[in-house]
Amino acid sequence: MPAVVIIGAQWGDEGKGKATDLLSSRIDYVVKFNGGNNAGHTVVIGDQKYALHLLPSGILSPGVTPVIGNGVVVDIEVLFDELDALIARGIDVSRLRVSANAHVITHYHRTLDKVTERFLGKRQIGTTGRGIGPTYADKINRVGIRIQDIFDEGILRQKVEAALDQKNHLLVKIYNRRAIEVDEVVESLLSYAERLRPMVADTALEIHQALEADKIVLFEAGQATMLDVDHGTYPFVTSSSATAGGASTGSGIGPGRIERVIGIVKAYTTRVGAGPFPTELFDASGEFLRANGFEFGTTTGRPRRCGWYDAPIARYTARINGVTDFVLTKLDVLTGLDKIPVCVAYDVDGVRHDEVPVSQSDFHHATPIYEEFDGWTEDITGARTFDDLPKAAREYVLAVEKMSGARISAIGVGPGRDAIVVRHDLLG
Ligand code: GDP
Ligand code: IMO
Ligand code: MG
Repeated sequence: MPAVVIIGAQWGDEGKGKATDLLSSRIDYVVKFNGGNNAGHTVVIGDQKYALHLLPSGILSPGVTPVIGNGVVVDIEVLFDELDALIARGIDVSRLRVSANAHVITHYHRTLDKVTERFLGKRQIGTTGRGIGPTYADKINRVGIRIQDIFDEGILRQKVEAALDQKNHLLVKIYNRRAIEVDEVVESLLSYAERLRPMVADTALEIHQALEADKIVLFEAGQATMLDVDHGTYPFVTSSSATAGGASTGSGIGPGRIERVIGIVKAYTTRVGAGPFPTELFDASGEFLRANGFEFGTTTGRPRRCGWYDAPIARYTARINGVTDFVLTKLDVLTGLDKIPVCVAYDVDGVRHDEVPVSQSDFHHATPIYEEFDGWTEDITGARTFDDLPKAAREYVLAVEKMSGARISAIGVGPGRDAIVVRHDLLG
């Protein structure tokens, strides 16, 4: 089972960090292949809680080599801050590898992210403001700065000049901001070079060699399928490929290597930022999910929008990613509800849609058609086998599994590392 991909099945924050951490003792490499420090993964180990943004969650496990792949956008200052915070807590981060081809988030990308959002007004996306979109835009526009450029001052200066040439016109003339100095950017990037140098590698080659040597490599997605730039709710998406295909382009391995795709899906749904969300709740049930699930963003602290489980989205995710196994997380959060609705299809202007409609306008207008299941009141956080769960919880899981397009191989019953019910070995 050499290459395994973990992806988010909804709009993020499904518990990918916990799932990666869970598998970490059995894997050799964890590769982050998309996104940047817009991600926020919480990992709870004993009484210690870690919030990871740019670093792959596997960094917490001794023996795992964490890799930041070419598909990631790297804010180097954030990288060093995150490393320092882990070092201060006694974590060995010395194995980290960073792709020479990864793109760099600079000061002007962060500025542009914020000003463009402000100018969008009511139409804003609600980005994390970390400069993600503008950095990927520069990459595609072929005016990006890559990690390797930091080691060649002449090239770096040329590239920053070319990038700022247009952007300063924009900043000054359109957005009414001060121009950004080339020197300021170049010097700040050069100041990272010495510390960065030993981490930088041809990561595609190293991952290839690891796979050839039968090592287990886990590819950990940031964000999620419904935030994917191609397959998500465009334009209310992030700017990278958060789906399983992204693991291949974002790390430089052939798609044929991937033998397993694990979709992480919450027992209900959440979303941060703007965009359509058919099962969103605006009543006491939504409050219940937010309070019980502690649904506040790991990165921006924003309250997450909450709603019921959406089975067409799970099926869509299963299809787009080739999900082989789902991990259903946060089942414990539903404890105490009398009835649990699950969205089984949508109504769009009187027409039933059993699958996610391809038209974005239809999806905006979709109202959920629900089926209701019985709730349970027993505390399930101590459950470790499927049979430990109350009958109603088992029935909820089995019903949801039937609708979701792949088997549910594990069930999260609490934030802790061991709070999990495993039905099928995720790596076996
Ligand atoms: P990620 O971005 O997908 O890694 O997810 P986040 O870390 O942003 O959000 C998931 C949150 O749920 C974190 O606070 C986790 O500690 C927590 N969590 C994960 N699995 C479970 C679970 O099964 N039950 C409960 N109650 N919390 C969980
Ligand atoms: P993890 O990995 C939830 C959302 C933002 C915004 C949109 C675009 O923790 O699941 P961006 O800054 O990426 O340009 O913002 O995407 N978003 C996330 N929502 N979890 C995340 O990451 C997210 N990363 C970005 O809220 O709506
Ligand atoms: Mg998160």
